[in-house]
Amino acid sequence: MIYDFDELIDRANTNSFKWDKYAGKDIIPLWVADMDFKSATPILEALENVTKQGVMGYWHVPDELVEVTVKRLAEHHHWDVPKEWIVWLPGMVPGLTLTCMCVGQDDDEVITTVPIYGPFMKAPLAARKKLVKVPLQLEDNRWTFDFEAIKAAITPRTRVFMLCNPYNPGGTVFTREELQTLADICLANNIVICADEIHCDLILDITKQHISIATLSPEIARQTVTLLSPSKTFNIAGLGCSFAVIPDDELRAKYAAMRYILEPMISAYAFEAALAAYRDGEEWRQQLLAYLRKNHAYILQEMNTFKGFKMLPLDATYLAWIDVREAGIENIAQKLEEAGVGISEGAFFFDGAGFIRLNFGTQTSLLQEAISRMKKVLELK
Ligand SMILES: Cc1ncc(COP(=O)(O)O)c(C=O)c1O
Repeated sequence: MIYDFDELIDRANTNSFKWDKYAGKDIIPLWVADMDFKSATPILEALENVTKQGVMGYWHVPDELVEVTVKRLAEHHHWDVPKEWIVWLPGMVPGLTLTCMCVGQDDDEVITTVPIYGPFMKAPLAARKKLVKVPLQLEDNRWTFDFEAIKAAITPRTRVFMLCNPYNPGGTVFTREELQTLADICLANNIVICADEIHCDLILDITKQHISIATLSPEIARQTVTLLSPSKTFNIAGLGCSFAVIPDDELRAKYAAMRYILEPMISAYAFEAALAAYRDGEEWRQQLLAYLRKNHAYILQEMNTFKGFKMLPLDATYLAWIDVREAGIENIAQKLEEAGVGISEGAFFFDGAGFIRLNFGTQTSLLQEAISRMKKVLELK
């Protein structure tokens, strides 16, 4: 089946978080990580079937979802996961917070690299931990870890390292060597790794491969909570179905108990959509990736024509990360909004001031319109 990613879908007045930010204004929203594409047909059909049945009580995870998830982890991640290791969650953000809650004591420390997706900074604080920020560094035009800075930040109270792979913002897919070095540091210091791998099925650079850090060795797996979800890839984040893979029995039991008391049950819609995505969504995903790669090439080309803008190619995600420090424009987000383009400010990603993030998970025609609006207010190189 051929999907039409060019089809414009009117999301105005649908209570869309992304579109309603600018309700009533002529601003193209290119901010929050939500794509403007219709979901794959098998997902839509699965949702219709839930409606047809019509009873909206509590659900438990469908056996088939567990099976396809385990199969997917084996095929895509080369990871044999016993089904008992999986804890189902209504979202990734609660998964981050639960990890911080279940490891260590109050006032222990959690390391987060910055800039980073906002909730990475808030989860440790919600779990009464101290937040320790270590900046990523730019090495050979690629955002990566500064291992010396990470080692220097570790104290006897460091209990968790929050890893985002592929990275948001910036799109880095970390290499096996980088992950091994990080894992060795964490093992040597008895630090649990909380690996958010939500963007792992959105690899744009075909020369790059996503590696789950937990697959490096059984020792590392035992010290890792890996968070995954079909939500970003298949654009079903609004339904809420994610999961944590936790090999360590004790940590998993604590996590599952805390999850039960703090988080809601997962809806039939969320489970059935996740099942359809993982079981029948590959054709859609491949076409999506082809579309995103074209949008990426277009945005990369255009962003680098603006004076003072620097965008590096992304390994993964549909979220362009653009260094605008040299443009010297005060309040650039406001200026772009006035021109009719809504981007995310780098500051949301903590320590990302001077950058903007642009979501190109939308129709190419909307991106072309956004670029033409930007050309009216920005100088070219
Ligand atoms: C790295 C990362 N983690 C988690 C999330 C959000 O996940 P959820 O909506 O399931 O809480 C996002 C959303 O953009 C993300 O980029």
